[in-house]
Amino acid sequence: MRVLLVLAVLAAEKAIAINIPFESFELTPAEVDAFPVIAFGDSANPGPARTGCRFVPGDSEWPTDDDWSRLNVSMGGALLRPDPPGAVCYPDHPRYDEDACLALMRNAGRTREFEYLPDYSVGDYHGPAARVSAGLEAWEMFDYMRAHDMTLVVPGGYTVGAYGGWMAAGGHSPLASTFGLGSDQVLSLQVVTADGRFVTASPESNQDLFYALCGGGPSTYGIVTSAVVKAHPATNVTTASLRFQVTNGAFGSESDMSASEAVEAFWTGVGMFFHYGKDVTEFGGTTYNYVTPGMNNASVSFRTDFEMPGMTPDDVAAFLQPLYDAITDVGIPISKTVPGPSSTWGPGRRGIGDMPGNSRLASRLFPRRNWESDDLFDETMAAVRTFVEGGYSFHGIHMGPTEEVAGYPGGGGVNPAFRETLMHADLFDRGVAPGASADKVKEAHDRLVEYVQPIRDVTKGSGAYMNEGDVLEPDWQGSYFGDKYERLLAIKQTTDPWNLFWAPGTVGSEPWAVRTADGLPTQNGLLCRIDAPRR
Ligand SMILES: Cc1cc2nc3c(=O)[nH]c(=O)nc-3n(C[C@H](O)[C@H](O)[C@H](O)COP(=O)(O)OP(=O)(O)OC[C@H]3O[C@@H](n4cnc5c(N)ncnc54)[C@H](O)[C@@H]3O)c2cc1C
Ligand SMILES: *[C@@H]1O[C@H](CO)[C@@H](O)[C@H](O)[C@H]1NC(C)=O
Ligand SMILES: *[C@@H]1O[C@H](CO)[C@@H](O)[C@H](O)[C@H]1NC(C)=O
Ligand SMILES: *[C@@H]1O[C@H](CO)[C@@H](O)[C@H](O)[C@H]1NC(C)=O
Repeated sequence: MRVLLVLAVLAAEKAIAINIPFESFELTPAEVDAFPVIAFGDSANPGPARTGCRFVPGDSEWPTDDDWSRLNVSMGGALLRPDPPGAVCYPDHPRYDEDACLALMRNAGRTREFEYLPDYSVGDYHGPAARVSAGLEAWEMFDYMRAHDMTLVVPGGYTVGAYGGWMAAGGHSPLASTFGLGSDQVLSLQVVTADGRFVTASPESNQDLFYALCGGGPSTYGIVTSAVVKAHPATNVTTASLRFQVTNGAFGSESDMSASEAVEAFWTGVGMFFHYGKDVTEFGGTTYNYVTPGMNNASVSFRTDFEMPGMTPDDVAAFLQPLYDAITDVGIPISKTVPGPSSTWGPGRRGIGDMPGNSRLASRLFPRRNWESDDLFDETMAAVRTFVEGGYSFHGIHMGPTEEVAGYPGGGGVNPAFRETLMHADLFDRGVAPGASADKVKEAHDRLVEYVQPIRDVTKGSGAYMNEGDVLEPDWQGSYFGDKYERLLAIKQTTDPWNLFWAPGTVGSEPWAVRTADGLPTQNGLLCRIDAPRR
């Protein structure tokens, strides 16, 4: 049995552009023909659909050590057999090494490529751009921005890959309302496709693939090795923070409200803030807000950062004052910071990422129309309150990555709900205790789905952000891709009729699933056709 392999790249018939020197290493057809265990798909003749389960090391169909070493020799010793980088952090693993693990957590430190292009043209775009290899992480980009006095759009999360998975499903950041999503930045991509070809996808070549790769989902159409992305004029981001909270029905000693008045006032204040978020996006800003439940419904806290690109600290103070006055007028004592340079947009944390948490989340994109009718806005706030009073944490991100701010070429396959949204929300549960039974995990998930439902009901026809979504999102095709699903599926079926690339919730993933022992939607099991017999 031949194994479809995508590690290697066939030399294309005609020379194609490369962004990064490593992209010039390609197998020739003769080399590939010398290894019968390796097959590249032929898109002109895809053959019958695959059946059964994917082969894994240990299966008799898996290439032998001898096969692999002959391939390695033909590649001049370049074949890698890497352990996951995190292996050094597992005490049971032969490569366990405490120092290496710490170094990995502080800064994964892979050797990644970058080049500034002051004058780049593709399609209708003429202007500054940058070549970035797909492995660059957000935090690494800030030094390049400073060195070249320009701004790139990169994830808010420091260790998120900038032009890998983030861009592939949209990608938001503090600049989303000013310059659009990550997928809106892309001018050209270098891609290894499922048939082993190395191609350029841009507004000028392989346009369908370009459309799909720009926001139509990760791990679906090809492996992106590098991108050319827009470079914007240097942009400072000014941050201000606001917080208030009610504890056991009291704002603090200076407040003379009853407990229930205080709780109502709290939610009135949160509503004023959520409403003002529309103005924030219109001024090019974003908010990162949290409404977090306490031990009872009379204890709940709110905090937010405002991230305002291109505004001075004085501008931001003046812009926020009417909101602060309105919240103070309902009797809420607020804590606020003096606006200043953003600590989350800049070379602050040097590759130290956020710590992993043990909770499950769902996502929802709130459409603009929820701000345009007072009744619908009130229903929206009621749904958020029900969610928080159910014991869940609400993390909202006001942003307006409209088509207008996205500009050319406009992030093809990205979820159309992003264009209409004024706020994305991550909807977190508190997690189940480590080691909980599969039934407990399923129960907890069912309850989360039940509490997200009122939020879905007030945002009908909108969608969810797959990069921060529930792996069991109901109607995920509609939620994650909207009315672009059919076109994306057609592109998937043309470029990868073998379903070589697979991840749950991606376009065309339906016929396959990971078979796990406990039935939970993890990656711990074989990937099989859903109709394949058990083995
Ligand atoms: C701490 C934290 C902070 C976050 N902050 C943000 C944020 O500010 N904004 C935001 O929008 N999202 C954010 N996210 C969500 C983030 O967008 C997703 O986790 C995303 O999947 C990360 O992509 P990655 O390439 O870093 O991850 P990976 O886990 O490496 O990849 C994710 C998926 O993309 C595929 N993929 C990766 N690289 C490529 C490639 N080169 N070609 C083809 N497929 C590829 C992988 O196969 C996988 O299916 C955050 C997540 C975390 C954990
Ligand atoms: C490939 O060959 C090189 C050079 O001999 C060696 O260092 C490397 O470990 C080999 N790779 C694999 C996967 O065996
Ligand atoms: C950004 O802030 C720095 C430091 O305050 C300042 O020197 C620079 O001129 C600002 N840049 C822009 C584009 O406003
Ligand atoms: C909080 O209020 C909700 C109704 O909004 C109710 O279902 C829940 O039981 C209350 N929680 C507590 C801890 O009282």
